[in-house]
Amino acid sequence: MTCLFALSGKGGVGKTTFAGLFVRNLVELGKKPVLAIDADPNSCLADMLGVKVPFTIGSARERMRDESDELKISKHELLRMKIAQGLVESNGFDMISMGRPEGPGCYCYANGVLKAAIGELSRNYPYIVLDNEAGLENLSRRIVQVVDILVLVSDASNAGMNTLERLHSLAREMGVKYRKLIILVNRTREGRLPESAARVRENTGAHKMAALPYDEEIATLAEESKPVWEVSRDNQIYSAIHEMLDEITKAP
Ligand SMILES: Nc1ncnc2c1ncn2[C@@H]1O[C@H](COP(=O)(O)OP(=O)(O)OP(=O)(O)O)[C@@H](O)[C@H]1O
Ligand SMILES: [Mg+2]
Repeated sequence: MTCLFALSGKGGVGKTTFAGLFVRNLVELGKKPVLAIDADPNSCLADMLGVKVPFTIGSARERMRDESDELKISKHELLRMKIAQGLVESNGFDMISMGRPEGPGCYCYANGVLKAAIGELSRNYPYIVLDNEAGLENLSRRIVQVVDILVLVSDASNAGMNTLERLHSLAREMGVKYRKLIILVNRTREGRLPESAARVRENTGAHKMAALPYDEEIATLAEESKPVWEVSRDNQIYSAIHEMLDEITKAP
């Protein structure tokens, strides 16, 4: 069975950085092949993982109507072909990028097809890491059917923690289903949880809550466009995520 980690949270809190580190650690823990899905049109999970995506599913979707007529195959078949073509294969993990969805209008059909295609692709992977855009839009559109581990990321500020609680309530209201909730509080002072943490944990029923400190090495990743594979093994954030994933993937 596939275990899907979906990372969400407000803008700029560290979702993509952690998604990259999740992929690296799952690979290193032998939980491979991992499928990394970049569901943020503005994101750079590919850079974080040091791979190049040939084209995105979003752009494939736009060209689909003409091509399916030309090739005389169903849109569903064509999309599955495109997804296979858009899949980047790397060491221990593969990656696809959703790209920008079509313009305004009804998402239902395209999302339905996309969901089915990703569902099919998912069967080949024991672990999937889904990096989302800020907010919960992708989850609410239910592009991915079942989230096993919902990872909500926040900074340590009161405003950030309040937003996280709101996101959690929203997820509930929208019927997002998950088995476990993990809260990662990022850029904390000396790795200490803020005062609001106990309340947030209680209100959300989080299975796990971890404080991750501001870290110079992590800060330089984005600044210097370096992939997560270059983070040293004694890095405090790398180690914290490694231990956490080791524990989670062992638990039933
Ligand atoms: N613990 C940390 N210490 C130092 N810098 C960090 C830490 N976590 C993340 N960063 C930096 O913060 C910036 C934002 O991180 P990231 O892109 O992962 O956030 P995001 O939540 O994915 O943003 P977006 O909502 O735009 O997708 C990056 O420059 C990243 O290197
Ligand atoms: Mg991001």
